[in-house]
Amino acid sequence: MKREKLSSRLGFILLSAGCAIGLGNVWRFPYIVGQYGGAAFVLIYIACLLLLGLPIIIMEYAVGRGSQKSIALAFDELEPRGTKWHIYKWFGMGGNYLLAMYYTTITGWLLLYFFKTLRGDFNGLDATAVGNQFSSLINQPLTMFIFMTITVILCFGICSMGLQNGVEKITSKMMVALLILMVALGINSIFLKGGQGGLEFYLKPNLAAIQEVGIGKVIFAALGQSFFTLSIGIGAMTIFGSYIDKKHALAGEALHVLALDTLVAIMAGFIIFPACFAFGVEPSQGPKLIFVTLPNIFNHMFLGQLWGALFFLFMSFAALSTVIAIFQNIIGFSSDLTKVSVKKSSLINAIVIIVLSLPCILGFNVLQNITPLGAGTNIMDLEDFIVSNNLLPIGSLIFLLFCTSKYGWGFKNFLKEANEGKGIKFPTWARLYVSYVIPLIILWIFIQGYISTFIK
Ligand code: ALA
Repeated sequence: MKREKLSSRLGFILLSAGCAIGLGNVWRFPYIVGQYGGAAFVLIYIACLLLLGLPIIIMEYAVGRGSQKSIALAFDELEPRGTKWHIYKWFGMGGNYLLAMYYTTITGWLLLYFFKTLRGDFNGLDATAVGNQFSSLINQPLTMFIFMTITVILCFGICSMGLQNGVEKITSKMMVALLILMVALGINSIFLKGGQGGLEFYLKPNLAAIQEVGIGKVIFAALGQSFFTLSIGIGAMTIFGSYIDKKHALAGEALHVLALDTLVAIMAGFIIFPACFAFGVEPSQGPKLIFVTLPNIFNHMFLGQLWGALFFLFMSFAALSTVIAIFQNIIGFSSDLTKVSVKKSSLINAIVIIVLSLPCILGFNVLQNITPLGAGTNIMDLEDFIVSNNLLPIGSLIFLLFCTSKYGWGFKNFLKEANEGKGIKFPTWARLYVSYVIPLIILWIFIQGYISTFIK
């Protein structure tokens, strides 16, 4: 059967950017920057993106375009006979499911905050009262369940409309709307009275802050964040490689996606940190950061309710575009492995993901005594830790080895695929770097991260 293709290059870039841009940018990036010391962390993060993330995303696209398959079959297709690279498919597919198991819950929070802002629930509240709304939300499993379910049904619904008519068309529009609004809100936030301290926190590196957290932990977090934002290591990007033609070399395409992704993350920081300082919200408070910061901004803005509703709507778009991309992968697995139709696979997987999302929701309330990573952590933290700090770096390592080792697909095949078409080429001189230097760096950061996280 002929593989469905995207209708345009722009569609491909926006769709891949849609997969990259998501909670990682608008929710995770600001709170991780807040926890890990501000500006100095941002610099390490950008270095991780360019030096480690970029080559790996190119490899994912190349594996997808070369095999014309999702991660469920890509390695089977390209590996030398008798080798076992394909075993990785189970981790790649598992990674997509595991990501969906908590991503849908947080996307549900954003959708709910859109409705709450539209209804004026935050009007006139001070920063503490806004924070209390969030604490009360995570104690309401039913509300969280409803909004998670809406997310799942909406996104599988879009996927079941097909690649071009559903996924490409809808994601492209959402991404353009998101980019415009983020720029407008960033400008607004920079000029907030009292926000100067936030800009300083965000832009002026403070080495003491990093030393306080511990440099090993900071680099580990930056690595996890950069791989999370690019969705690399679990084959999520591979599938988009399988939907494009050979007109353009892959390095240029990856650079476009990386630039858009970084722009949105950096803008999210510009929106959030000045606001934290202007409204006395502590930037290091972790996952709830945007939910306690943003409503405050809108409370103090002209037409704030409207801006707020629009903002949460577009943030939901960022998250939804990633959920759609993950679901497109999940549906891609079943089309590659079975003969089940897209509609049937959407229905079955929707039910599976709704059920699998329950532990994350219950981990905040009914199961809050389960603290898998130590006091104060919950099931979502564990799921995120497995994905961001384990599957993504280890998976990336496998892509690197597969694309450079003569026992895998090999550097020559990878280079030929990556460089086919017009535009920026992957440099041949980078061979040693991608074959040895990056794998060793990832391994080193990975081991250090474990040591600094678990051996106090
Ligand atoms: N890349 C996705 C994000 O940043 C997972 O949210």
